[in-house]
Amino acid sequence: MQSKNKLRNATITAVGMYVPPKILDNKYFEQIVDTNDEWILSRTGISERRMLEEGATSDLAAGACLDLFKTTSVKPEEIDCIIVATVTPDMLFPATACLVQNKINAKSAWAFDLSAACSGFLFALKTGACLIESGSYQKVLVVGADKMSSITDYTDRNTCILFGDAASAVLLEPTENLEEGIIDQMLFVDGAGKDALYMKAGGSLNPASHDTIDKKWHYIYQDGKAVFKVAVKGMADVSFEIMKRNGLTSDDVAYLVPHQANLRIIDATAERMGVSKEKVMININKYGNTTAATIPMCLTEYYRDGKVKKGDNLILAAFGAGYTWGSIYLKWSID
Ligand code: UT7
Repeated sequence: MQSKNKLRNATITAVGMYVPPKILDNKYFEQIVDTNDEWILSRTGISERRMLEEGATSDLAAGACLDLFKTTSVKPEEIDCIIVATVTPDMLFPATACLVQNKINAKSAWAFDLSAACSGFLFALKTGACLIESGSYQKVLVVGADKMSSITDYTDRNTCILFGDAASAVLLEPTENLEEGIIDQMLFVDGAGKDALYMKAGGSLNPASHDTIDKKWHYIYQDGKAVFKVAVKGMADVSFEIMKRNGLTSDDVAYLVPHQANLRIIDATAERMGVSKEKVMININKYGNTTAATIPMCLTEYYRDGKVKKGDNLILAAFGAGYTWGSIYLKWSID
């Protein structure tokens, strides 16, 4: 809901994305683990995902930002702040956002990483919006970027078929029109979910050792069934609630923009909102789960395909490790 004493909203004025060229299709996974195309497609909705062969998350993120700058008159040196949502930083420090700042030559920007897994883009988008709404900053780049292949165990059929590498970026700028841009958000954390989805080692709890490598603790672990249940409820409930408290019916919503983790979770969320399938942004088929990149990539592709128009009401929704989840209501403002 709109705060009463707000002077400005933050709105997305440009978008960009980068996916690496190498494609891993379902047939590839049939050769390396005990799986098949039919199982993967029917249980997840995924046909292909991308893999970055050389380089790191900052390269994906910089690629997305440079793609964005091709579409706007704003120059990298005008950027005030860069927020990179990621769980696969190039290194633990410095922040990947610092590396991106250097790679895109955004000399005036301060920059930091934000870690909220699959909800990372939503958390970063709201954080960036607050910087703009406060009046302190004019141009904030919000990037979702993950090189999931760097933490994926390609011998584990439960997880390896799910994830892909990608990045996507949006530019936030102020608008005095309080009816457009980022209008409302509901963001949540339940830290009790920590045991269902995590990477156990590499941090201060279990620093890298021969033992952590032998135990495969530097890879994603996911209790898929447990996460599936809470993700369906979490995403569906929060999307429904944000519509309700903003007085929106399914007719008022142009698109649900869900995190792309599983087509069955997406379908359940749309059903709870009463939104028909044509009004759901979906690209999981081509890219799999790219963690923080899924939502801005959907926005970029649908906008570029001419499917999103100025004035459209969009409901963004995500669920991920932590647990973290939430929804953002935004009104699209690019022509
Ligand atoms: O993005 C962050 C949040 N993450 C999510 O939202 C993901 C949530 N979870 C999911 O999307 C689903 O749980 C998965 C796609 C990960 C798994 O689908 P599922 O329908 O929950 O399958 P399951 O884990 O219950 O496994 C069913 C069966 C098992 O065999 P048994 O024990 O019934 O004999 C698995 O071993 O499917 C088996 N299985 C596979 N079979 C073929 C698991 N992975 C595969 C595979 N190929 N790749």
